[in-house]
Amino acid sequence: MEQRQAGVARAVVRVLVIGASGLVGQALMRAAPAATGTYRTRALPGLRRLDAADAAATARLVEEVAPDVILCPAAQPDVEWCERHPDEARDANLAPLRSVLRTGVPVVAFSSDYVFDGRAGPYAEDARRSPLSVYGAIKVALEDETLAAGGTVVRTTGVFGGEAPPGKNFVLRAVRTLTAGGPLVVPADQIATPTYADDLARATHRVAERGGGGLWHVGGPDLLSRLELGRLVAEVFGLDPSLVRGTSTAALGQAAARPLRGGLRNTRYRDTFGADPVRPVRAALEQMRRATRDSLPRSELDERSRDGEAPAAEGEGRRAR
Ligand SMILES: NC(=O)c1ccc[n+]([C@@H]2O[C@H](COP(=O)([O-])OP(=O)(O)OC[C@H]3O[C@@H](n4cnc5c(N)ncnc54)[C@H](OP(=O)(O)O)[C@@H]3O)[C@@H](O)[C@H]2O)c1
Repeated sequence: MEQRQAGVARAVVRVLVIGASGLVGQALMRAAPAATGTYRTRALPGLRRLDAADAAATARLVEEVAPDVILCPAAQPDVEWCERHPDEARDANLAPLRSVLRTGVPVVAFSSDYVFDGRAGPYAEDARRSPLSVYGAIKVALEDETLAAGGTVVRTTGVFGGEAPPGKNFVLRAVRTLTAGGPLVVPADQIATPTYADDLARATHRVAERGGGGLWHVGGPDLLSRLELGRLVAEVFGLDPSLVRGTSTAALGQAAARPLRGGLRNTRYRDTFGADPVRPVRAALEQMRRATRDSLPRSELDERSRDGEAPAAEGEGRRAR
């Protein structure tokens, strides 16, 4: 169904987040605490249960909440699982979106730099799509369906940030592995622009409030390999960087091909709002570390501070813009 506000900018009053229990969804809720959010299997406090593959249930909830905009991070974004289960993966990722589009309420859907082949990243919005994996091809379909309905697509990449346990994003997993003595083995040949979830969330709300639909890139400003990111995590969290070991993507023997040189340039966002949407990776990690310290018991804090503060100079990535 054609969305009713395409092309019209206005203040958003009511926000519904479908998939609020995931990494991106939790950040969207932190950035807009008055929003209504849903979960499917991870019941977090305050969220409503919804399987958005059920179009009738989605329509009922939307009728009740009467949102001005629906943010839809609902997905099964496990790239390996998608590659091994292509048909189920299409349904799992596209059915929730279709239910939401059918309501006619303006929608913001999320896509990825996996729509590109990774030969020439970081990519601007108008770069040619050429996905290497099932997940990437699903995202191409998601983008086309959303844009055809007058909706908004936010592409992002390598999202990390605070998450309710068990946090599964790269940074939280890296901290867990390194705290347990490692090793953390990561590909040295996958390069992208890691994106702090809370900044992605704020940027998404800003784009949603502006209205008008279309495609937006929201990625971090630093172009980093996973190896560089892992070492920076170790440094900022006061853990041992020598436990971070580089390998090649080929050596990992994964089912899905990865875009090796990925990442995003936030061309439209910068042109529209005159600022970068996402802070540098080091600043984001320092923010996460402060938040982690606040939630740690005193004895662990004392233990950490004996490891010393991280040196400040190294590890920033090449700038992506
Ligand atoms: N994380 C990244 O690095 C990254 C990078 C690029 C793009 N993206 C895109 O950003 C979006 C969000 O990613 P994420 O990392 O936040 O994923 P995530 O942590 O796996 O969260 C996915 C969310 O979708 C919900 N969900 C799944 N199936 C659903 C259904 N049928 N009905 C309702 N909710 C459903 C999950 O609910 P339950 O957990 O409660 O079941 C969860 O809240 C995805 O579109 C992803 O492709 C992510």
